Amino acid sequence: MLRDIAFQRVFTGLFVYNILFEDSELDDRFLGIDEDSDVLSITGAGCGVATMVSRRPRRMDAVDINKHHLALSALKITAAQRLDDYDTFYSLLGRGMHIDPQATVGRVADHMPAWMQRYWARHWPRFNRSLYLEGLTSKMLGAMRRLAGIDASWLIPLLDKPVEVRQQAIDDAITPVLNRPYVKLLMQSPLQLLALGVNYQQRDRILEAEPDDSIVDFFISHLKRLAATDLATNWFVWWAITGAFNHDRQDAVPPYLRKTRHEASYGAPTKVNFHRGNIFDRLEAGGPKTWSHYTLCDAPDWMPEPVQRNLLDEIFRTSRDGAIVLTRSVDEESFIDRIDGGKRFQLMEDASRISTLEDRSRQYRRVDFHRVCH
Ligand SMILES: C[S@@+](CC[C@H](N)C(=O)[O-])C[C@H]1O[C@@H](n2cnc3c(N)ncnc32)[C@H](O)[C@@H]1O
Repeated sequence: MLRDIAFQRVFTGLFVYNILFEDSELDDRFLGIDEDSDVLSITGAGCGVATMVSRRPRRMDAVDINKHHLALSALKITAAQRLDDYDTFYSLLGRGMHIDPQATVGRVADHMPAWMQRYWARHWPRFNRSLYLEGLTSKMLGAMRRLAGIDASWLIPLLDKPVEVRQQAIDDAITPVLNRPYVKLLMQSPLQLLALGVNYQQRDRILEAEPDDSIVDFFISHLKRLAATDLATNWFVWWAITGAFNHDRQDAVPPYLRKTRHEASYGAPTKVNFHRGNIFDRLEAGGPKTWSHYTLCDAPDWMPEPVQRNLLDEIFRTSRDGAIVLTRSVDEESFIDRIDGGKRFQLMEDASRISTLEDRSRQYRRVDFHRVCH
């Protein structure tokens, strides 16, 4: 517990992710956000909340304890709403670079809260080389790519190969690198947990339920699960192996980056409030019937059970009848079902089963949608 308090303190001050490790195409398919929706969302790196804007909800409360992730989410959302030219938008956030990043980032940041304007006045150089090479996780993956000698020329020939061939390629190129003693030590270090965004509580949950006996084994089996997906459109794979998305296909990038979504998001009247802090502060400030949708990433996995209970009580207190709650978890069992037993929160079985099966990040044992019943 103390280790996780320290983890959270360090994590909140670091720029860890530049993309969200969740399949926001599924969220978009099952959340049913529309112009009457009011959404409370933990943003992570923001690909999910930026996609939601294309559904033009009435209001979004975007919250994260990590200022870097929140500022990046705000940039993605605001660029989707305010940058009229799709090529400029795609260059900045699809390719992660722009010929004049200072001016373009500044133009978007002008519409953001003052602290974020100051943040981007300092951090626009992230778009010089590519946003997708910046941040702790990308630096860690870049080092792994260099050690293993892999890049797009390794990935592309594997796209139409059978799954077994792809998995063998992982064992040939990546597994030996991860098993080198100093890499193994690094992989088991707190730095690596930070890069994976897995706190101690969550790591223990992963290892409890996995046959793998170390985080290295977990990482390798995760890569092999990814290898079994449609590689051409799996943006997590392209990002991890090449440091960029597959720009040849619109369905190979997070939805908010696609042209049709940009058309829907541009000019969206959605009022977005950005809150830097704990989701509990937001919930506490909300009255009854405030929100219709809650998207929580896998943040409940970071919480001990009494805090999870409190979270459900607060959601119930602030939600409209029929509100939807989206959570992801590395656990076998849903914490919502375990705590509530289907009384106030009913599992949306089809949406949850399909999303658990199809989430192309392959990072979770569960992707759950619950409906709140008052
Ligand atoms: C739980 S992390 C894990 C990684 C996540 N699955 C992803 O794809 O990015 C996702 C985000 O939740 C944020 N977070 C965790 N606990 C939070 C809390 N209690 N309130 C607000 N944000 C929180 C973290 O700062 C991080 O940006």
